[in-house]
Amino acid sequence: MCGIIGYVGGRPCEELILSGLERLEYRGYDSAGMVLLDTEGLRTVRAVGNLAELRKAAHATGIDASPATMGMGHTRWATHGRVTEANAHPHSDASGRISVVMNGIVENYARLRSELQDDGVVFLSETDAEVIPHLISRHYEGDLVAAMRAAVERLEGHFTIVAASAGEPGRLVAYRQETPLVIGVGDGERFVASAIPAFLPETRDTILVESGEIVVVEADSVSIHDASGTVERGITRIDWDEDAAEKGGFDTFMLKEIHEQPSALRDTIGDRLHREGEVDLPGLGLDDAALARVERVHIVACGTSFHAGLVGRYLIEDWAQVPVHVEVASEYRYRTCLAGPGDLVIGITQSGETADTLAAMRVARERGAHVVALTNIMGSQAVRDADGVLYTRAGLEIGVAATKTHTAQVVALALLALKLGRARHVLSAAGAADLGDELQRIPDLVQEYLDSPDARHAMEVGEKYADRPFFLYLGRHVGMPVSYEGALKLKEISYVPTEAYPAGEMKHGPIALLDDGSPVVVVATDGHVFDKVVSNIQEVRARGAQVIAVATRGNEEITEHADDVMFVPRTPPLLSSILAVVPLQLFAYAVARARGLNVDQPRNLAKTVTVE
Ligand code: AGP
Repeated sequence: MCGIIGYVGGRPCEELILSGLERLEYRGYDSAGMVLLDTEGLRTVRAVGNLAELRKAAHATGIDASPATMGMGHTRWATHGRVTEANAHPHSDASGRISVVMNGIVENYARLRSELQDDGVVFLSETDAEVIPHLISRHYEGDLVAAMRAAVERLEGHFTIVAASAGEPGRLVAYRQETPLVIGVGDGERFVASAIPAFLPETRDTILVESGEIVVVEADSVSIHDASGTVERGITRIDWDEDAAEKGGFDTFMLKEIHEQPSALRDTIGDRLHREGEVDLPGLGLDDAALARVERVHIVACGTSFHAGLVGRYLIEDWAQVPVHVEVASEYRYRTCLAGPGDLVIGITQSGETADTLAAMRVARERGAHVVALTNIMGSQAVRDADGVLYTRAGLEIGVAATKTHTAQVVALALLALKLGRARHVLSAAGAADLGDELQRIPDLVQEYLDSPDARHAMEVGEKYADRPFFLYLGRHVGMPVSYEGALKLKEISYVPTEAYPAGEMKHGPIALLDDGSPVVVVATDGHVFDKVVSNIQEVRARGAQVIAVATRGNEEITEHADDVMFVPRTPPLLSSILAVVPLQLFAYAVARARGLNVDQPRNLAKTVTVE
């Protein structure tokens, strides 16, 4: 997730761009860059690190003294290509007269890159973004809008582009395909940005750009064009304070990140899953023949990432029929490790820095296992310590309680399971294609859920039970890790004691906790264990418990057994965990907010646990 800001107006803009980037830094911070158009042409400066590094570089190059009144800036959160100055944006064409910043992912960049290379284009970065200035340049005949239109027709993926041409001072041309783009309207000046905070101190008048639209931004005008012509769009006045603006209008980062799950999942699938169910995961460092030889999979992780690993076990064992061992990293690292050559060890860590997970990965690597880091952070320690990598592309997660990175991890594990299943000939081509189609639908289903009254209802249920002193969570099969994750979310942000158990195991002890009115949250989505879960519900109700169920829409039967039901869209049972966890995130959120707590920074917790 990168941040973009552009400016066209009457003021020298270097400081406007740098301070705008600072307000976007929450979107990504591994490197940054800026381009200004002045009498010397397009002048670019880039730096690895945070904005302070870019400021230093701007000073060192003298660009900070530029009188330029037009420019663009970018703060990068790497997805394609390492964290280097060469990979930082802006990127330009060979002539240096077209400059581009991009947020998002160009899925077909590899094909475009080799096509451009065949035409003699020399690439200076490893990024997907660099194909864009070269494509624009190929079509450029003095009209940046026409060239942008021709270029974006060739691009697949989710991205926002802002481009400048040295030949067209006073004009920025932007294009949005899914990822955000907003315009700020000032007096004789215009801003273009990924998010409103970038320009909020300068103006509160904004124009919201829709997907598929090209926008031409000049100091005194903004014109928007879609496939059918010019679009009329009014100004929206923003009355958020700056803090709210940074959170995209949501009250907290956690809520924002819950709502970012559709794009996190979509980007994680990205260009990796093909229509025929074939999956490309070149970062694993294992070809199909090597994957076919994998004897066992070990998954090591902590906290929420561990719960994703538990879901991954069901997917991998079912789709690829490889035995999977899942363990919390802090235990795995101190046991006699029996992993070895022939084993695939997956360390799941969104931060890529969790000390116990890194140690467990190291232990397995020393034993000769092939170790893969499943992480959200490019170039993190986990990546450096591993033989291969599988990235989630969830964007930066700021809330301490992991939400979008968890569901993205499950989606990444589903991709891996599909790949293993094909490589081992467990899945037929047709079977893999069907599963691939189902997986591809998940981001839209999550979006549809979040937009639906069901999501609001999950929060209302949370508010209803917010004063309860204890919750028991139950689930079976793939619903079991979902219940674990729901319970962890609730305890970490609301400080309410929770117990999570496999539903079938509950009668071996935890049932003693129940009393009249004890709330029991039960994951009861459709699947082959549904009837068993209903039996467990009867058992807890017989002890006076109140049941809050997560169930599949259309399942009327569950309403007879539960006091409250949080319905989610129907998916194949093995993928249901991705949908079922979302109401539990919202439920936990509502409980914590009703208790007046700071959900983004819960007490005693750190986002990244780099100590044992
Ligand atoms: C999740 O809500 C927690 N903040 C925590 O359990 C977290 O998942 C755990 O510390 C692991 O972090 P990692 O994925 O960065 O390794």
